Amino acid sequence: MNVEIVEERRPELVKYIEITRQSAEFIKQQLKESSFQLEYVHNMFKNCDKDNIYVYDAYLITNGKKIHVGTALVFYTYDKKAYLGIIVVHYLYRGLGIGTRIVQEIIRRAKERGIREICAEVLTDEEYQLMDINTNEMMVRRFFEKNGFKLKDEYLYCYEIMT
Ligand SMILES: CC(C)(COP(=O)(O)OP(=O)(O)OC[C@H]1O[C@@H](n2cnc3c(N)ncnc32)[C@H](O)[C@@H]1OP(=O)(O)O)[C@@H](O)C(=O)NCCC(=O)NCCS
Repeated sequence: MNVEIVEERRPELVKYIEITRQSAEFIKQQLKESSFQLEYVHNMFKNCDKDNIYVYDAYLITNGKKIHVGTALVFYTYDKKAYLGIIVVHYLYRGLGIGTRIVQEIIRRAKERGIREICAEVLTDEEYQLMDINTNEMMVRRFFEKNGFKLKDEYLYCYEIMT
């Protein structure tokens, strides 16, 4: 399978990060026991390096055609960490290794830039439903674990980059 991953720097998406932070706070108010209580993630949002927000797009190349099959959003923080905010593969192309290719490219680029740690938060099924994301917690946990992420807090998976 011929998959191409394209990285693009998108500093204007700082608006998106702000909306995400606000919606995290909204959900926290709605669900009293929410995982959004994680101080770690809140600090990440606050520390977001506005010039270093990236989008990763995955394209499947088949019969001379380029099909957009996945996207991820990552931002770096001023203290040399990264936060994988969202990753989605088109439902028709899931389970084919495309998500893994995207994450491996994110890790490769982060290493090149001297980033020390990449974190991703796994939400609960209830939170995914509330945000209208059609997925489940166990599957997302397995996905990050397969990609070398380790559980740091109940809902936070981090990938440590050894230098
Ligand atoms: C999570 C997601 C990005 C993974 O992308 P993907 O291309 O399907 O993942 P891969 O094919 O690289 O799979 C890697 C591992 O993830 C797990 N996995 C992926 N899809 C799965 C599925 N449908 N059911 C169970 N496990 C699954 C498996 O452990 C798999 O490893 P294996 O194939 O050796 O069993 C994709 O399923 C998706 O877009 N889901 C909806 C959005 C989402 O949940 N995003 C994450 C939170 S923002």
